[in-house]
Amino acid sequence: MSVSDALAFFRAWISNPLRVAAVAPSGSAVASLMTQDITPGTGPILELGPGTGPFTQALLERGVPEQNITLVEYDATFARLLARRFPLARVLHMDAAELTAAGLYAGATVGAVISGLGILAMPADKASAILSGAFACMVPGGAFYQITYGPRCPVPRAILDRTGWTMRNLPPASVYRIMRHRSLLPSAL
Ligand SMILES: C[S@@+](CC[C@H](N)C(=O)[O-])C[C@H]1O[C@@H](n2cnc3c(N)ncnc32)[C@H](O)[C@@H]1O
Repeated sequence: MSVSDALAFFRAWISNPLRVAAVAPSGSAVASLMTQDITPGTGPILELGPGTGPFTQALLERGVPEQNITLVEYDATFARLLARRFPLARVLHMDAAELTAAGLYAGATVGAVISGLGILAMPADKASAILSGAFACMVPGGAFYQITYGPRCPVPRAILDRTGWTMRNLPPASVYRIMRHRSLLPSAL
């Protein structure tokens, strides 16, 4: 992590601690854990809350073509930095809760969603809108990967139960893989 990234992050955190939700960018070990299931064959990747891009960089190192990555970032300074750093990726300066309205993909084509969002600090209806929008973009077996530094999955149990998604912890760090319940896959309908 560069000093300039750390400073940019700290400044963003000072201006909006709840939204930025961390004082420093994730390190390479967390980025590696977060992306461990991803291969070049996963297909298009949607990343939410990329910040300065440590998970994006890890995706590239796993062989994901840059043009297959869409980055959704609310902070304007981070969005500009990401556009410079990853010129072939699609960088969108927007709220991840607006995914459904934005219609980013023609159909459900995304193989995985990587989320660095501070879901724990969000109201439940916002978290629910983000998950609904993300799953609407994803192929049936696609997974939503969520990082957390807390002791539990940051997606409220009520949302998971209501939508039928199931979750699986990837030990030892707190990365959760949230998937549609088997009974909701098209082949089971
Ligand atoms: C905890 S930081 C994680 C940054 C990066 N993924 C990392 O691990 O270093 C959360 C990021 O999500 C962004 N963010 C917060 N709320 C958002 C929203 N509703 N839509 C899009 N991005 C959001 C923040 O601006 C910040 O960049």
